[in-house]
Amino acid sequence: MEKNGFPVAFIDSEPIQKLFRFPETKLHRQPFIKYKGLEESLYIYIEREREREREREQIRGDQCPGHKDRERERDRERQRERAEMESSEGKCKILIFGGSGYLGKYMVKASIFLGHPTYVYSRPPTAKTSPSKIDLLHEFQAMGVSIIHGELEEHEKLVRLIKQVDVVISVLAYPQVFEQLKIIDAIKVADNVKRFLPSDFGCEEDRVNPLPPFQQFLEKKRKIRRATEEAGIPYTFVSANCFASYFVNYLLNPHEIRDNINVYGSGKANVVLNYEEDIAMYTIKVANDPRTSNRIVTYRPPKNIISQLELISLWEKKIGRNFNRVHISEQEIIKLSETLPYPQNVQISILHAIFVKGDLMNFEVGEDILEASKLYPDLKYTSIDQLLDIFLVNPPKPVVAAF
Ligand SMILES: NC(=O)c1ccc[n+]([C@@H]2O[C@H](COP(=O)([O-])OP(=O)(O)OC[C@H]3O[C@@H](n4cnc5c(N)ncnc54)[C@H](OP(=O)(O)O)[C@@H]3O)[C@@H](O)[C@H]2O)c1
Repeated sequence: MEKNGFPVAFIDSEPIQKLFRFPETKLHRQPFIKYKGLEESLYIYIEREREREREREQIRGDQCPGHKDRERERDRERQRERAEMESSEGKCKILIFGGSGYLGKYMVKASIFLGHPTYVYSRPPTAKTSPSKIDLLHEFQAMGVSIIHGELEEHEKLVRLIKQVDVVISVLAYPQVFEQLKIIDAIKVADNVKRFLPSDFGCEEDRVNPLPPFQQFLEKKRKIRRATEEAGIPYTFVSANCFASYFVNYLLNPHEIRDNINVYGSGKANVVLNYEEDIAMYTIKVANDPRTSNRIVTYRPPKNIISQLELISLWEKKIGRNFNRVHISEQEIIKLSETLPYPQNVQISILHAIFVKGDLMNFEVGEDILEASKLYPDLKYTSIDQLLDIFLVNPPKPVVAAF
C-alpha cells in the first residue's frame, strides 16, 4: 500500500520514524543536508500526517456529550488554538523571503534558534553573487535551513513551497515592496498559511504623517498591508522601530574620528533603538503567537527608549571623550527634504519623523497595538546601554539600506 507515493511500510519503518522523531531540532535536521529531496518530502508528509492525527484526536475528545453549548465550544476552540500555537512554538515551519539580507540573516538565525524548520527562498546565484552571500547561504545550510532558489515570478513554485509551511515572513528589501504582491497571490492560492508578516519593520506606518518623500515611501508599504487584509490572509504587521546597530552607526559615527555629532532638531524627542538580533527574536515569537493574529505589534522595550541627546551623553561616558553637538534645525531639515534628490530626500524625511517629531513614540500602545516586550517579558533583550558596550568592543559594520 502506498500513501502519497511512499510505501506505508517504509514510512512506518523504525529508521525513518527515528530520523524524523524530533525534526524541529537542529541535530535531527542535519540529514536533510545530505539527502535533500526524498527525505524532505518524507519529512513534510510525516509532519502533515502527525498534524492530521492530532486534529483527529482533538475532534474525538470534543465529541463527548455535555459539550454542546456554543459559547463554551467557541471558548474551547480558542484555548485549543492557543495551546496548539504555544505547543507548536519550535515546530511551525517558517518560510523567509529576503533571508540573505541585512535583517533577514538575523531572522533566519532566530527562527533556527527557536527550533523552527526554516526555509529561505533566495534568488538563484549568478556570477555576480557576492562570495559573502554564498558563504552565508552555506552557513544557513549547515544550520539545517532549507534553501530554495527561485524568482518571485515563479508562481507555481511559490505555491508548492508555501503549501509546505505554516508561516511566511518577508524581509525583502524596500525596492521589492510591490514584489510582495506575488507572495500574497501565492499565499492566497496555497490557502494554508497561518500567518504572513510583510516587510514592514520600521515606524508604525498607519499612525504617522511624515514629510511628503517619506509619506510616499510609506504609502507603498501601506498598500501591501491593505492587500494582505483584502486577501483575508492572517497577518501580523510589525513596527520594529529603529534598527539599533544601523542607527547608532549613523548617529554616532563610531568608526570615524570626529569632533562633531549632528543632532536633528532639539535632540530631545524620544526614539526607540532595537538591536537587530532582538527584532528577529521578537518577530519569530510574534509570528507564532495566537494573540498577535491580525494585529499590529510594536517593539518598544523600555530600556531602548532614548533621546538623541541622551544617546550621545551615554556614548561620551563610555568612550571618555566629548563631542560638539551640531544642531540641524527643523526648518533646515524640511528645506532639505524639498531640495535633495531621491533617495536622500526620503532619508532626511525619515530623520525628521523619527528624531524631530518623535513619531515612534507618538501613539499609545493598548487595545489596538500590542507591544513586544510586554508580550514576551522573559525575552532578555539587549538594552541600548549594552549595545553601546558591543560597539566599544566589536562595532557592527555600518550599512545603508536599499531605497
Ligand atoms: N527600521 C529600520 O531601522 C530599518 C532599517 C533598514 C531597513 N529596514 C526595513 O527592513 C526591511 C528589510 O530591509 P533590509 O535592509 O534587511 O533588506 P536588504 O538587505 O537590502 O535585502 C533583503 C533581501 O531582498 C532580496 N532582494 C534584493 N534585491 C532583490 C531583487 N532585485 N529582487 C528580488 N529580491 C531582492 C535579497 O534576497 P535574495 O538575494 O536572497 O533573494 C536580499 O538579501 C525593509 O522593509 C526595510 O525597509 C528598516
